[in-house]
Amino acid sequence: MKVLIVGGGGREHAIATCVKKSPKVEKLYCVPGNAGIAQIAECAPIGVMEFDKVVAFAKEKEVDLVIVGPDDPLVGGLADEIEKAGIRVFGPKKNAAILEGSKAFSKDLMKKYSIPTAAYETFDDPKEAIRYLEESDTYPVVLKADGLALGKGVLICNTKEEALAGVKEIMEDKKFGSAGNRMVIEEFMTGREVSVLSFVDGKTIKIMSSAQDHKRAKDNNEGLNTGGMGTFSPSPFYTEDVDAFCKKYIYQATVDAMKAEGREFKGIIFFGLMLTEKGPRVLEYNARFGDPEAQVVLPRLKNDIVEVMESCIDGTLDQIDLQFEDKAAVCVVLASDGYPVSYKKGFEIQGLEKFDGKEDYFCFHAGTAFNEQGNIVTNGGRVLGVTAKADTLLEARKKAYEATEWVQFENKYMRHDIGKALEQ
Ligand code: AMP
Ligand code: GLY
Repeated sequence: MKVLIVGGGGREHAIATCVKKSPKVEKLYCVPGNAGIAQIAECAPIGVMEFDKVVAFAKEKEVDLVIVGPDDPLVGGLADEIEKAGIRVFGPKKNAAILEGSKAFSKDLMKKYSIPTAAYETFDDPKEAIRYLEESDTYPVVLKADGLALGKGVLICNTKEEALAGVKEIMEDKKFGSAGNRMVIEEFMTGREVSVLSFVDGKTIKIMSSAQDHKRAKDNNEGLNTGGMGTFSPSPFYTEDVDAFCKKYIYQATVDAMKAEGREFKGIIFFGLMLTEKGPRVLEYNARFGDPEAQVVLPRLKNDIVEVMESCIDGTLDQIDLQFEDKAAVCVVLASDGYPVSYKKGFEIQGLEKFDGKEDYFCFHAGTAFNEQGNIVTNGGRVLGVTAKADTLLEARKKAYEATEWVQFENKYMRHDIGKALEQ
């Protein structure tokens, strides 16, 4: 098979690494890719939102399967365009990717089908949102821009003043663009967060090993929200009881709800869960692999990922026995200092070859590129995802942090407490 991966981050490098292992795959392409992906796939400089070019490239290369990594193209309908061109595609169509693309949609779905989540109201008019907040005295409260906002469209407001200012930012100043045309105001919940990824074929769902992200930029969960500074998997907080609850009330219920709405979901559903005192609640859905969750989950997948993805397309996922190695993994993101606000790019990266041939160590590239001399340089906020596998989480954590010392670049920045909660 010839396979094309759409995307160019750490998640796509993890997907590409997994796809490359499949005996079914004879040729791997990626658009736009990055300097790491370029070592295992043929990359072309096509943006993920350039749908016509992506489709033309897939046709020209006679690709048999396209895998779409990021949220933006999925929510924008890239899967539909690829399918229309007669090419098989892994990833939800536009009418199903709305599960991630609109918070108002996903909240209404959960309410309609009694899927446990925080209480909420939806607003199209800032005046009504303000009136609602004026009458409420329960704080903190959570404001969410309806649409995609690079993971930044969520504001946790501790006072009425903050909340009123938040409505202005989202709905009037349009800080997150048209994502703020609608807004959800939601009950604030507390508890530990867990990410659960799953394969879905429209009717059957198979859960992957759980993971935990670290979203804030600085140690001790301080600083701004980022795309994710590191992950570990599995999460020891995702107990058998939690799993049983989610299987009963959340996972299949979500797949069935989408089907009942005429929005059959095929691809990855990522459940962002909060383990509250009252039980697990859905914080959000994503319609794709998490980044950097994929970097700790996929290296432990025992199945041929291409076979699993094809079964999702064909509706035969029930015949797949999804299996993960009985190991743990930790990923520490090496970022450019200043991320997520402003940072410099173009610094040469040294030491990448130290990962060559080392079993259980992975250096997933995110923001990397080749400079004119052909050397690998930093090219983004999140640069590398240094990942290690081991028998225990603590051992994996130790190995991952050791490996962070193998690579050097100017302005290298990382959190030092990824997985620290495990030690307590
Ligand atoms: P989301 O994009 O909906 O996952 O929100 C981003 C982050 O905001 C989550 O990972 C949580 O840390 C936080 N968050 C979202 N909704 C709530 C809520 N209802 N209560 C408390 N924290 C929340
Ligand atoms: N790491 C969180 C996400 O991919 O949305």
